[in-house]
Amino acid sequence: GRGHNPRMSSSDSRGPGGMRKGLTNYGDAGFSLFLRKAFIKGAGYTDATLDRPVIGITDTGSGYNPCHGNMPQLLEAVQRGIMLAGGLPVKFPTISIGESFAAPTSMYLRNLMAMDTEEMLRAQPMDAVVLIGGCDKTVPAQLMGAASAGLPAIQLITGSMLTGSHRGEVVGACTDCRRYWARFRADEIDEREIADVNDQLVPSVGTCSVMGTASTMACIAEALGMTVPGGATPPAVTADRMRVAEHTGQVAVQIARERRTVDQVLTDKALENAMRVLLAIGGSTNAIVHLTAIAGRLGYEVDLKALDRMGRETPVLVDLKPSGAHYMEHFHAAGGMATLLRELKPLLHLDALTVTGRTLGEELERARPAFQQDVVRPFANPIYPQGGLAVLEGNLAPGGAIIKQSAADPRLVEHEGRAVVFEGLEDLANRIDSEDLDVHPDDVLVLKNIGPKGAPGMPEAGYIPLPRKLARQGVKDMVRISDGRMSGTAFGTIVLHVTPESAIGGPLALVRNGDRIRLSLRNREISLLVDAAELARRAQEQPVQVPQAERGYRKLFLATVTQADKGVDFDFLAAAEVKGKVPRV
Ligand code: FES
Ligand code: MG
Repeated sequence: GRGHNPRMSSSDSRGPGGMRKGLTNYGDAGFSLFLRKAFIKGAGYTDATLDRPVIGITDTGSGYNPCHGNMPQLLEAVQRGIMLAGGLPVKFPTISIGESFAAPTSMYLRNLMAMDTEEMLRAQPMDAVVLIGGCDKTVPAQLMGAASAGLPAIQLITGSMLTGSHRGEVVGACTDCRRYWARFRADEIDEREIADVNDQLVPSVGTCSVMGTASTMACIAEALGMTVPGGATPPAVTADRMRVAEHTGQVAVQIARERRTVDQVLTDKALENAMRVLLAIGGSTNAIVHLTAIAGRLGYEVDLKALDRMGRETPVLVDLKPSGAHYMEHFHAAGGMATLLRELKPLLHLDALTVTGRTLGEELERARPAFQQDVVRPFANPIYPQGGLAVLEGNLAPGGAIIKQSAADPRLVEHEGRAVVFEGLEDLANRIDSEDLDVHPDDVLVLKNIGPKGAPGMPEAGYIPLPRKLARQGVKDMVRISDGRMSGTAFGTIVLHVTPESAIGGPLALVRNGDRIRLSLRNREISLLVDAAELARRAQEQPVQVPQAERGYRKLFLATVTQADKGVDFDFLAAAEVKGKVPRV
């Protein structure tokens, strides 16, 4: 749970004590300090410097993570901000997770990064920390770790990549990656063109330029009050991003001096503001899992039914792909989060404290005034009348399932069809493109064994590709159901996070070819139209074999990972004490 930090209680009450803090006292405090100073002086520091507030900075640069490719410039700007405000910056590495290069999945590693972050914040002397993250799993991991470590913390986002251009059309990772690949699969474009597109999709360092998981978590971090105002949207390579970094360094020294610990910012009100924002941006379904994990670290359980109620009164206002038309740089030019938060004002807790020491409402008063723009819609004229995400229930998902309704085909959201079942990823790969696959456009594609324990690590395979023979016929969407996740940049009528997952014996495991399945978005229903007696008979016939591992991190993961409705965190990392449920609507 949320541990008591011995460093804070062993220090005196005069405020931050620089390197004096964080000293493990084995009985002779004087000698301990003497020793630590001797070692840090090996790096060339003077006594006066070491008496300043120490601000740790997580350096998550990695050659495997181009989404963090501006790390050297960010570190320089943060350090400048810290020093100008009178602090001593000390950067240190943690692991870095880049979506494209993390096997078996980046989700499998998120909790490892959260543990790395938490323990290094606990272990090393620092009065506050700047967490630098950007790619999908890094910001959630850092917020989870910081929430548990409990010291003053501030989030810095690396920022989105620029958009590219293909034959006169604006493109960006990775909604357009999917769109062009689907066209290639359907033989609409050739090898030469798909190679050209490949050069343009990621035209600079930074995170995906649509409202995928990275952008969603950036907006959520700002809504939580964990970034400086305006911290979510500046693209990675811009001067605005570097100014945000410098400002972040300055505020980090303030939170150290004022001892504004993370629990003062990450409250139930902040979590509810973040949920509002998630719904209003048409954000990634992954963010529900991450917010649930962050809330769990703070002692809050996410009430999915309440979240769905919240969604019914929270329209999608941000016109970004995959739900809309624009990209992050356009959202930034439209005033970024301040423009959105102003529209959402009546639905927000404006009295929630932010890292600056001012409330969200006070920060909105100070923000640049509103102006005419076409990325954030007014409340009265939304992109989609309800929140981007809806929560489904039924005998197929007793613990809930998620659908990104704003990215679904309206013709498919009230649908009954015949199940075409794939037992796992291998089965899917072997048969999805086969000419003799018995499948029709009205069928429901079902994929099992891609949940938290199933794959393991809940891969983003819930975006099941359309069978090639149907794609060639021009079929653009089908109802698809799994216990996995999907990329925030994807779109379609896709039911995700079916809980409990099939690998631990959830009802999804019992679906067979030819069963009827009903999706009703109106009724928030996902049902397997097979009677209970038949399902009980099938359950007897196919005993559950929960995946296990012999050793290492995989053993820890499979033994302790929770289901989607608990955030896919490790069970021993949630707060020991439960404070309540969020949201309370
Ligand atoms: Fe890093 Fe999309 S791959 S943000
Ligand atoms: Mg992603």
